[in-house]
Amino acid sequence: MRLRKLLTKIDKKVIGVSFKLEKLLEPITIRGMTLRNRVVMPAMHLGYCENGHVTEKLVDFYVERAKNQVGLIIVGGCYINKYAMGAPSMIGISDDRFIPGLKGLASSVKSYGAKIAAQLYHSGRYAFSMIIGDKAHAPSSIMSKLTREIPKRMTIEEIEQTIEDYGEAARRAKEAGFDAVEIISSAGYLIGQFLSPLTNRRTDKYGGNLRQRMTFALEVIERVREKVGANFPIIFRVSGDDFMEGSNDFHEAKVFAAKLEDAGVDIINVTGGWHETTIPQLTMNVPRGAYIYLAENIKDAVGIPVIACNRINDPLLAERILRRKKADLVGIARGLLADPEFVVKAAEGRFDEIRPCIACTQGCFDSVFMLQPVTCLVNPAAGREKKLELKPAVKPKKVLVAGGGPAGMQAAIILKKRGHDVTIYEKTDRLGGQLLLASAPKERREFKTFVDYLCRQIEKLGINVVFRTEVTPELVNEV
Ligand SMILES: Cc1cc2nc3c(=O)[nH]c(=O)nc-3n(C[C@H](O)[C@H](O)[C@H](O)COP(=O)(O)O)c2cc1C
Ligand code: SF4
Repeated sequence: MRLRKLLTKIDKKVIGVSFKLEKLLEPITIRGMTLRNRVVMPAMHLGYCENGHVTEKLVDFYVERAKNQVGLIIVGGCYINKYAMGAPSMIGISDDRFIPGLKGLASSVKSYGAKIAAQLYHSGRYAFSMIIGDKAHAPSSIMSKLTREIPKRMTIEEIEQTIEDYGEAARRAKEAGFDAVEIISSAGYLIGQFLSPLTNRRTDKYGGNLRQRMTFALEVIERVREKVGANFPIIFRVSGDDFMEGSNDFHEAKVFAAKLEDAGVDIINVTGGWHETTIPQLTMNVPRGAYIYLAENIKDAVGIPVIACNRINDPLLAERILRRKKADLVGIARGLLADPEFVVKAAEGRFDEIRPCIACTQGCFDSVFMLQPVTCLVNPAAGREKKLELKPAVKPKKVLVAGGGPAGMQAAIILKKRGHDVTIYEKTDRLGGQLLLASAPKERREFKTFVDYLCRQIEKLGINVVFRTEVTPELVNEV
């Protein structure tokens, strides 16, 4: 314990001296929207809405991140029409009836100094007929590996209506007080389906070579711009590489990015491939910052700001990306799910107090595909921000915690923070329990970063730990 304490002190000193987060905390103004720093929270479908309506749970979730200094929060995906919907628990922006809820969300987030953007989303062939009550819409009738269903090839009238629906959704976002909109083409959703030769076999003006396959995206941007006017930022989220054999790779992504800039897009948000790809993008075997090169590739082709994403769950890595001009902003999604105070702690140099996202996907991404609300394996308060707000204990007690596994450690931390006198009894000579086993394989080492975090918290809070002692009735009576 003492050695670890010493090492932590040394680390902090070294990091503190050589790493001031100058770039990460630097403001930036884009088409009149000033962000207080370079931290963007990318869109994450959370499953907190009810039939498309914003709920208190959703507002509380984002307010917690806005309060803690996130620069720009992108919410969504927000479905733009019936065919766009991935799940009824997504944010609805397909009708004016959603505007009051969206207004509440935008004003709450903005009251804490963060900017907020709405992601305009269409599932295309990734929509389940069971959910939308109809066949999915897509450029061509090609089976989706995700749904195992064959979508309907959109008619020209349906394409034109969809473009209008994007425009109307953007108009609603602006009316609700959002600072920007983001159009998503990444992950293999509708716009990406038009862009890809794998899913677009059309012979009209929307299909053919890359230039023709870009037509749908460019018409969407044009309509959105018409609806929001000249002084409203448009963000566009791209796959820096589809990672699908026979689809667009980073060469086409570069050509597309240049077109986006010409079309009046203000920021390009770069992420990885499709949902169908077998190349991992989120899991813990993906090295931190592995996909920065995709953002760098796009930055090479455009003069507008670029956001780098995926596995940037460390402020020092984020700072390095910006200093080395690989991107202009950094997207931190799950890092902010795991620790809403990520930016504040980073700004104060409290790096070792940041609760790390371990890229397990167990609480978050896996929940999405089970149509469950998103939670987080390392942050029990995610999605329950108000309910689990820490309050001092009315009557502090002496508490014995049996076992120093993750649950025991977390319980001890909360109890101590509430003012109780806590002692953990652990029968082995190490804290961490099953997580130590889980972190044994090389590819699963991220689990250990959470154990280390819990150990640091226990030490910092001065929680007593008694090792090599099994809890028995006699021990309980004794203490
Ligand atoms: C639960 C969950 C839901 C997501 N939903 C969306 C979404 O609706 N739209 C989107 O563009 N990306 C979505 N993503 C991807 C994230 O925006 C982000 O790109 C990804 O998590 C990688 O960044 P990270 O490593 O910082 O989490 C989602 C990710 C997660 C974990
Ligand atoms: S559930 Fe796992 S992957 Fe998701 S945010 Fe929490 S720690 Fe990260």
